[in-house]
Amino acid sequence: MYKLLFNLLFKKMDPEKAHHLAFFWIRLAHSVPGLRSLVRAVLAPRDPKLRTAALGLDLPGPFGLGAGFDKNGIGIDGLSMLGFDYVEIGTVTGEPQPGNPAPRLFRLVEDRALINRMGFNNQGSARVAARLAARARTSNTPVIGVNIGKTKVVPEDEATADYLKSAKALAPYADYLVVNVSSPNTPGLRNLQAVQVLGPLLWDVRKAADEVTTHHVPLLVKIAPDLADEDIDEIADMALHLGLDGIIATNTTIGREGLRTPAARIEEIGMGGLSGAPLKARSLEVLERLRKRTEGRLTIVSVGGIETAEDAWQRILAGADLVQGYSAFIYEGPFWMRKLHKGLSARLRAAGYASIGEAVGKGIR
Ligand SMILES: Cc1cc2nc3c(=O)[nH]c(=O)nc-3n(C[C@H](O)[C@H](O)[C@H](O)COP(=O)(O)O)c2cc1C
Repeated sequence: MYKLLFNLLFKKMDPEKAHHLAFFWIRLAHSVPGLRSLVRAVLAPRDPKLRTAALGLDLPGPFGLGAGFDKNGIGIDGLSMLGFDYVEIGTVTGEPQPGNPAPRLFRLVEDRALINRMGFNNQGSARVAARLAARARTSNTPVIGVNIGKTKVVPEDEATADYLKSAKALAPYADYLVVNVSSPNTPGLRNLQAVQVLGPLLWDVRKAADEVTTHHVPLLVKIAPDLADEDIDEIADMALHLGLDGIIATNTTIGREGLRTPAARIEEIGMGGLSGAPLKARSLEVLERLRKRTEGRLTIVSVGGIETAEDAWQRILAGADLVQGYSAFIYEGPFWMRKLHKGLSARLRAAGYASIGEAVGKGIR
């Protein structure tokens, strides 16, 4: 049914407009009490065996929605209604900003991929914090990750202050906090991945989060798939040294290899980060490298090209404590999580593990 809707409506629409329309429908469905319960009952049933603990949090399952879909935290409960086990909002920057000029989101349907150069369009840390503060939090509200990044107009050498502004505003409302230094769409951002710069930045964000909270808010860093293998090792070592809670791998790639979409079209689209199926192999490789280096001492969240339950299961066996996805949601639609949970549950039971946690890293060669 969603395939039909996608082909008849969304495929012909500008991708960013389609995103806003679909997200509006999700929030609308959640605002109608009877409909909300019905949708949740159909789309979000989970095998209790999928319950998992990571980052000191108790989650109904291992699969979250990656950052970028809900940049301002406006539809967290609607997304949870669709079955996502947790929702990472953002990237939120210190100051509000409009992002890059449109068009800035492109579909590569033949590749089951997207290219985006959104450029962190968001309402800024103060407004998003106020929205999160106004949410009633109960034991039923979903786990919320908050992903923070640098405001475009802030010079690179003042990046720390901008991250600290966001961390101070948002840490009190975050179940976990992510320092994003890996988007290709903010000039110079990825230079912050150099350990000499990243270490002090993460240290300062850790201190800032501790200053505004009475409990430990887990802190993670999100890295690019385009890093050299030695850089990945260096970041893993630094994360262990700093006592960071985890690493999210990976963001989108600037690479364009192995695509089915004609080269002329790729050229026409221009700059941006590529996500979806073409990212699958590299994202898995980065996960395997991180796991080998950290030997289970850090929480690893794997994201990039996960489309099916089998993909997610392979990531868990390769050492991912949690997984996330974004692009496949666009192509698979609202039944995606239902399918994924069913498939994961079947695999977990067939393999004879008592829990997801028990399966983590069991496939390491
Ligand atoms: C349109 C779009 C916007 C995104 N925005 C962000 C963002 O603001 N912050 C971030 O850390 N990642 C962002 N991402 C990256 C995703 O969170 C994810 O890391 C990446 O897309 C790989 O996963 P996927 O192949 O399942 O899409 C964005 C991705 C897409 C497609």
